[in-house]
Amino acid sequence: MAILPILTAPDPRLKTVSAPVEAVDDALRKLMDDMLETMYDAPGIGLAAIQVGVPKRVIVMDLAKEDDEPAPMYFVNPEITWTSDETEPYEEGCLSVPEFYEEVKRPAKARIDYLDYHGEKQTLEAEGLTATCIQHEMDHLEGILFIDHLSRLKRNMILKKLTKSKKLDASHNL
Ligand code: NI
Repeated sequence: MAILPILTAPDPRLKTVSAPVEAVDDALRKLMDDMLETMYDAPGIGLAAIQVGVPKRVIVMDLAKEDDEPAPMYFVNPEITWTSDETEPYEEGCLSVPEFYEEVKRPAKARIDYLDYHGEKQTLEAEGLTATCIQHEMDHLEGILFIDHLSRLKRNMILKKLTKSKKLDASHNL
């Protein structure tokens, strides 16, 4: 396994619409393993392939609490087939938007069809944090970040700060 570099906004690659996966094979499982390790290392609870520069419809998540056993989840070609009218706010962050947290409202419940680690068809009935997280990750597959759900004013302020801190970081890497 390997830890991969995570792209951060405003990297234009994060705007890519990811392509469907044609086969869940060993190469794809290797990518999912690397993504999971990268996510644990960051640390985060969800990661989409485009965040490590791979424009494929692949997501890994692990919502286990700190003291619990790891519970990795793998989603290939996920599709939302139903969402509740009821919404729920959650203060979201993102490994590609480091150190910013803002409230986003999303459907409280969702049903998702997907292929698992072995290429088997599965359905997830998601609610609570699972519903928030899978919807956040699926946005990444469309090139959408959680800051795209905020007002333009707020989004631009965050992007400006991220750009500034990137330049500052670069100027220290001699
Ligand atoms: Ni994210």
